[in-house]
Amino acid sequence: MQKQGMVVVTGGAGFIGSHLVDRLVAEGNEVVVIDNLSSGKLEFLEKCRGKKNFKFVKADLLKPEQYSSELAGAGVIYHLAANPDVKAAITNTRVEIDQGVLSTYNLLEQARKRDVTSIVFSSSSVVYGEPRVVPVAEDYGPLTPISLYGASKLAGEGFLSAYCGTFGMKGIAYRFANIVGARATHGVIYDFSCKLRKDPSSLEVLGDGKQTKSYVLVEECVDAILFGASKRLDKISSSMDVFNIASSDWVSVAEIAKQVIAASGSKATKIRFTGGARGWPGDVPKVMLDGAKLAKLGWKPKLNSLETIKAAAKIIWKETAAGKN
Ligand SMILES: NC(=O)c1ccc[n+]([C@@H]2O[C@H](COP(=O)([O-])OP(=O)(O)OC[C@H]3O[C@@H](n4cnc5c(N)ncnc54)[C@H](O)[C@@H]3O)[C@@H](O)[C@H]2O)c1
Repeated sequence: MQKQGMVVVTGGAGFIGSHLVDRLVAEGNEVVVIDNLSSGKLEFLEKCRGKKNFKFVKADLLKPEQYSSELAGAGVIYHLAANPDVKAAITNTRVEIDQGVLSTYNLLEQARKRDVTSIVFSSSSVVYGEPRVVPVAEDYGPLTPISLYGASKLAGEGFLSAYCGTFGMKGIAYRFANIVGARATHGVIYDFSCKLRKDPSSLEVLGDGKQTKSYVLVEECVDAILFGASKRLDKISSSMDVFNIASSDWVSVAEIAKQVIAASGSKATKIRFTGGARGWPGDVPKVMLDGAKLAKLGWKPKLNSLETIKAAAKIIWKETAAGKN
């Protein structure tokens, strides 16, 4: 992969962000991580600590005075910081305004003031809401998210696109499927692993287990992010491009429960479904993204969703034993 000069990664101490930072640092880029450590961990950046081309800045995106000067000279900002708990806004409706909308606006505004022109944004499949077509492609509309988390991602895309159009920036918004793998601190496999560690005799599954979604391993997601950026950022001007990052199949939650139980080695776990088509209010029961646009540029995941789940279940099961995450 080509070197990108100085790059900033917001949320770089998080699950996906730390893998992205590992790659960028290993490839010789000068990397500045901005993270408030609300869900991220410094341990996730162990590999980079002490490296000359790596700097960690503990700062909150809601407080520009803590990080604005760090943006000066950045070739690209990878904006991954966000509230990771999609259920949080059910009880605290304000969280997505602060951690999704305002934090993204603040970052864009500081980037504009510091003459940074290239921004890569981590959006999500949730912007599609419950699409009428499956698999759903990037040009689908209208975009009608059904969770506040989804609304904040759509707002983030909107602000990035508007900053591109108004101030001559260029942007990429990646709509991730479900990303899984090492250092996960949330998500279905992590939740099942934690529940099974507490009580291996039974596993509670939210919903009827028939929710089906696409899964991508975190290293593959990082590969896609960097691949798309290297192919597109130089070619666009004053606009934002959008890509799904997804595998072209899906796996049910019941199957994931089976795989996590298998990874745990338990032979006697009873699965108990709480019932209903959704795991929680705002959950989208069926998600499959069309990855053809990125595939046309030359990137496809190597693993399908089931292979991804099997690999991630083993890794996350081990990590939860070590109490790492
Ligand atoms: N994990 C997935 O399956 C998935 C799917 C779709 C989209 N995404 C998006 O990808 C991005 C990364 O997600 P993740 O799963 O790695 O989550 P994560 O919680 O592990 O990472 C988010 C990071 O942002 C930091 N952060 C949060 N608020 C901040 C603030 N105000 N200022 C500075 N830092 C802040 C956290 O400390 C954390 O390190 C997020 O934007 C998320 O919405 C993730």
